[in-house]
Amino acid sequence: MNSPRKNILSGMRPTGKLHLGNYWGALVRWLELQADPDYRCFFMVADLHALTTDYAESKTLKSKVEEMVLDWLAVGLDPEKSVIFQQSRVSEHAELALLFSMITPLGWLERIPTYKEQLRELAEREITTHGFLGYPVLQAADILLYKAFGVPVGEDQLSHVEITKDLARRFNHLYGDVFPEPKALLGKTARVPGLDNRKMSKSYGNAIELTDDEGVLKKKVSQMFTDPAKIRANDPGHPEGCVVFAFHKIYNPDSAVREAECKEGRIGCVACKTHLLSLMNPAMKTVRERRAALKPSQAWDVLEKGNERARSVARETLDEAMKAIGLR
Ligand code: TRP
Repeated sequence: MNSPRKNILSGMRPTGKLHLGNYWGALVRWLELQADPDYRCFFMVADLHALTTDYAESKTLKSKVEEMVLDWLAVGLDPEKSVIFQQSRVSEHAELALLFSMITPLGWLERIPTYKEQLRELAEREITTHGFLGYPVLQAADILLYKAFGVPVGEDQLSHVEITKDLARRFNHLYGDVFPEPKALLGKTARVPGLDNRKMSKSYGNAIELTDDEGVLKKKVSQMFTDPAKIRANDPGHPEGCVVFAFHKIYNPDSAVREAECKEGRIGCVACKTHLLSLMNPAMKTVRERRAALKPSQAWDVLEKGNERARSVARETLDEAMKAIGLR
């Protein structure tokens, strides 16, 4: 496949239904890149990566893959424009990861900040495993199989892109030039807080799902954390620490006006929430309706075609890598 377009690769672990944090933090950027004719995008369901921490809950994985892909399609990821595929079905990922594992010093992996942090955070799970330590090696294989020019990621993934560059360099140095070094594309995504002002996350129970219906949305907006010092409607508020305002910044083109009104005590939190709901509802309706019109089998059809296309690129790169090493 010769294409003058530059490749973009990104992936998401299959967590099932997506929430607004996933949307504003990642998918919006993916949609922009998909629309850019300079790029050919590969969007990957990182199901092997999910296994690195959730190997004991593997039976729910399939339905999570399906739900996530349906949400991707509902927001506008388009299999006609992008290659949407499933990591485990393109076995070149596992093969290249194994080759990379031969040249990855353990120290590189052990000092990655996310590694130590996750070990601490997921202390109740036994993840002092080979697979989990090797998470970034697999991610490097994901990226380099497609010789990606750019990798749209959040800040938390920067160290993984760094190690990908290190591995590309080390491989090229040892065996000859095969892999270009990718760039992390950070972009200006919005950070959406959860209802309680912590990071939005399924596991915290503070998320708004993309497909929440009007009733659920209404309830969730009413639960949003607001400035605790603003007790009466005409008390002056502090929008910077307020979840409702964080969402106004995204959904309300006149959020600056709202900011001033809040600070000057000219609007109360209940009215502010009602207004927000009226802005979010129509925006979310489109996605909800598109999602409802999709059949589960469509997710698998899309993946099957995408796997095929991904495989043809991946196979070529793996072959090149094997030849460079001297295996072929
Ligand atoms: N580790 C990424 C995350 O948790 C998911 C991922 C897997 C990924 N492989 C990738 C992201 C390759 C970018 C490129 O978000």
